[in-house]
Amino acid sequence: MENHNQYFEANKDLWNQRTAVHKDSAFYNLAGFKAGEQVLTPIELNEVGDVQGKKMLHLQCHFGMDSLNWARLGATVTGVDLSDKAIDEARQLNSEMGLNAKFICCNIYDLKDHLDEKFDIVFTSYGTIGWLPDLTHWAALISYYLKPGGIFYMADFHPVVWMFDDEFTRIQYSYENRELIVTENYGTYTDRKADIKGKEYSWNHSTSELLNALIKQGLQLQHYNEFMYSPYANFTNSIETSKGQWQIKGLEGKIPMLYSIRAVKQ
Ligand SMILES: C[S@@+](CC[C@H](N)C(=O)[O-])C[C@H]1O[C@@H](n2cnc3c(N)ncnc32)[C@H](O)[C@@H]1O
Repeated sequence: MENHNQYFEANKDLWNQRTAVHKDSAFYNLAGFKAGEQVLTPIELNEVGDVQGKKMLHLQCHFGMDSLNWARLGATVTGVDLSDKAIDEARQLNSEMGLNAKFICCNIYDLKDHLDEKFDIVFTSYGTIGWLPDLTHWAALISYYLKPGGIFYMADFHPVVWMFDDEFTRIQYSYENRELIVTENYGTYTDRKADIKGKEYSWNHSTSELLNALIKQGLQLQHYNEFMYSPYANFTNSIETSKGQWQIKGLEGKIPMLYSIRAVKQ
């Protein structure tokens, strides 16, 4: 793989800055989570199903709330993330909440240097592959870590959404992975005015690139679903069209905002 280290380092720095703001944000609702509220959305809860007794690998787990939610539902979870600040926070929450999740801080492309186990479920969600330049290597890792018959599940923002500028006023980027996307960032999705700044680097991935990468690694699709809403108010200019469902103002009912994939390893 081409050397992308400078981009990963810059992204790590931004995710470290974001973690400090996210953990205290209303958006992440950590206090509610600690008090027993569910932070996983109905989408993945319904589509992943019962995780009791399952070994789950959570890729790009951020500061671990979703991982710990799955742990609270009975899974034995290993979370992985590039941001050391996020992993520190995840480990602290894990011990504070008396759960038994394990957290690894590394670039997912280096995961084999840190982890050699097989899992029943590999899970990743909401803001994942856009940070990854190479889906072939990513899909190979998913396949490597799954037991035969194991499930890969992901829910993420639709590639159509990433074609737009931040304000959703025009198409700015290609649907396909044609270019390194470099953006100057201020604030974060939980607080647009937060004192966070820096360049970030991302990649757009078309649906065919994503699905073919998984299929080529022996993952058989059980579903590919699309949703016309985001379960989070994470985009600018979004409005809550139904409870817990946000769409872009002026584009309601016109663009897909999310997809989910469930696949089984042969
Ligand atoms: C939007 S968050 C993940 C979403 C999660 N649903 C959440 O909101 O808690 C994206 C995460 O990907 C991580 N990340 C970005 N690039 C990565 C890489 N190459 N390897 C591992 N983690 C990475 C970031 O550190 C960040 O914590």
